[in-house]
Amino acid sequence: MAKLTINPEKKISRINREVYGHFSEHLGRCIYEGIYVGKDSPIKNENGMRTDVIEALKEIRVPVLRWPGGCFADEYHWRDGIGPKEERKKIVNTHWGGVVEDNSFGTHEFFELCRQLGCKAYVNGNLGSGTVQEMSEWVEYMTFEGVSPMAELRAKNGQEKPWQLEYFGVGNESWGCGGNMNPEFYANEYRRYQTFVRDYKKDHHIEKICCGANVDDYEWTEKVMETCFRRTPEGFHGFMDGLSLHYYVHPEGFEIKGSATDFDEEVWYKTLNKALYMEELIVKHGAVMDKYDPEKKVGMIVDEWGTWFTVEPGTNPGFLYQQNTMRDALVAGITLNIFNKHSDRVKMANIAQMVNVLQAVLLTEGEKMIKTPTYHVFNMYKYHQGADLVESHIETETIGGKEWKVPNLTESASVDADGVLHLTLTNLSVSEDYKIEASVEGGAISSVSAQIVTGEMHDMNTFEDEHCVEIRKFDGVEISGDTLNFCIPKCSVLHLEVRR
Ligand code: AHR
Repeated sequence: MAKLTINPEKKISRINREVYGHFSEHLGRCIYEGIYVGKDSPIKNENGMRTDVIEALKEIRVPVLRWPGGCFADEYHWRDGIGPKEERKKIVNTHWGGVVEDNSFGTHEFFELCRQLGCKAYVNGNLGSGTVQEMSEWVEYMTFEGVSPMAELRAKNGQEKPWQLEYFGVGNESWGCGGNMNPEFYANEYRRYQTFVRDYKKDHHIEKICCGANVDDYEWTEKVMETCFRRTPEGFHGFMDGLSLHYYVHPEGFEIKGSATDFDEEVWYKTLNKALYMEELIVKHGAVMDKYDPEKKVGMIVDEWGTWFTVEPGTNPGFLYQQNTMRDALVAGITLNIFNKHSDRVKMANIAQMVNVLQAVLLTEGEKMIKTPTYHVFNMYKYHQGADLVESHIETETIGGKEWKVPNLTESASVDADGVLHLTLTNLSVSEDYKIEASVEGGAISSVSAQIVTGEMHDMNTFEDEHCVEIRKFDGVEISGDTLNFCIPKCSVLHLEVRR
């Protein structure tokens, strides 16, 4: 029997809604086909956006969307993507499959997508191959309300009013595809470029995201914080509002990666062990940030995370299209529990990527669309968005294969604005169910409802069988005063909604 204790009165930090954010890059079939099909498509759409995809994404309450990349961001020149579509420049997407990018999805289409989703906009600027002027004018184009060349150009292109831009990234992976810079060089470039990311709107601050580290490059964090974090005389920070972190789970390393669907138990545990590594990264990068920013003014922005496997057989290697199994569901559940637990520092996270790329929540094939196991986890965890993380602790045991070990269970708990307690748990074992006794401090429990995503480790949804993995009602919870007793099945992600 594993003991779980929760203290709903002990509020720790607010879980920013943006922790449940997404990422959509001009990569493979993410934007084109996956989201945007154009107004003339036989696929049902509103202003070119697939209706089925929009509806599915609204269901999971996408809070924020990052665009246009990724590596694509540092090659993207925003003027190519505005104005009459037939006049837009056609370019080659050199990073991703060498296909023709016709720029039919640009700034206007991105904000239309955010409008339909009801989400915040996070635009990633080009520091790698763009100029300061280009970046500055893009921000002016998107946000300036008065008389200015960029505001006039925007109006000429059909958008009189400026849009609401919440987040702006100044370069992407500047240590790699964004320019192969060293931290000192990037940090100085960041200071210069961000100066011209101006707040044109009264009473609205665009949150500036500085490019952070790849995985465990703590030196990058140190050097960038040293140069870019700044206190003003009022004691507030300047220059940066967020520092990014990128971490992908590749079971067999970056070169080999490993199959998305064909794996054994050892690789199952290896993958989950690597997903759990996110916690160490947050703690260690967070400790470096704390040295400069003990008040945690700067958010850690994990704007790329998820599984990265070998592409599906027969697909373009540059399109990063992979299937999604119960293993991905576990990676999502584990990672989101970690983000919740560190919501004092992690202010945004964006799973890579939204549709048809890497750990996608949706897959499409022509007019068909399926929801992946990862989608269903996001759907169960959405109740944590904007809620208060509360104190919780679970007793665990170490399980695993011959070499790769993991704790059997992970959890996180939050209380929403209506006082409802949400508890999410993952069972990492491929073979064992575990009995849990959960005591909720502070009075008797009146009701509980529960949902589960569970299955065998290889279970997935396909275009032939789209309902193999779904959210199912979970009936096995018994209430006894302030205690809940239940048995969490092997290989599952569980959500309990508790009222007192
Ligand atoms: O998400 C795929 C790629 O991974 C992104 O373009 C890049 O930022 C990262 O290396």
